[in-house]
Amino acid sequence: MKVDVFTLFPEWFGWFASQRHVSNLIAAGSSLECVSFREHTPLSGGQVDDTPFGGGAGMVLRVDVVDSALRARYGVDPVLLREQRRVIALAPGGRLLDEQLVDELSREPELTLLCGRYEGFDERIIEHFASDVVSIGRYVLSGGELAAMVLCDAVLRKLPGALGHERSATEESYSAALEGNPEYPHYTRPAEYRGWAVPEILLSGHHARIEQWRRERSRERGAAPADPGDGGASAR
Ligand code: 6GU
Repeated sequence: MKVDVFTLFPEWFGWFASQRHVSNLIAAGSSLECVSFREHTPLSGGQVDDTPFGGGAGMVLRVDVVDSALRARYGVDPVLLREQRRVIALAPGGRLLDEQLVDELSREPELTLLCGRYEGFDERIIEHFASDVVSIGRYVLSGGELAAMVLCDAVLRKLPGALGHERSATEESYSAALEGNPEYPHYTRPAEYRGWAVPEILLSGHHARIEQWRRERSRERGAAPADPGDGGASAR
């Protein structure tokens, strides 16, 4: 998969791209490249944003700057580009990123991610250049960069070669193999620690029964009400 990230902070992605699962994918033929809005702005002094019409706090990413950066990269009018590939604007009000969307995106050969800063995007960027608007949760970050990394992490780890064990991506939380439920609990050595014993079934060697136990725990977690909000103190 080829991912292009348009951002005001391309250097943030150097760290991300150097992480093992990402660098493995890049070695296997994927790419993660950054385009700096500042390097493509047609405005003087590297200007990329401006104050909002109608007044108000913060700065808004300019539509002409995004137009120039996309054109410079792809050589087509961005209005047509979104017919050819997913152009995803990261913004807090967008479609919530969940396992279904991650799966859908992991089947794309190419993705373009647009990171806004400050107060966000001039709405015309969203209206005319983006094919999707995606959010990673109902809270506000100071820019789309961290959200873009979250999206890339979730999508790239789905691709073959990203993880040590291919099985770990298919049987994980929210996967079809687990009927969309969270993952079952895991344990490793020591088998007992401070009197806390690992469930005996896992030490039994009965693979079929272990499988069944895991399915049951996974289903239970799917049916359980969400986090009690007290770190689990109520159950202790
Ligand atoms: Cl995609 N962007 C920003 N700025 N804040 C967010 C977000 C995105 N998703 C959740 N909060």
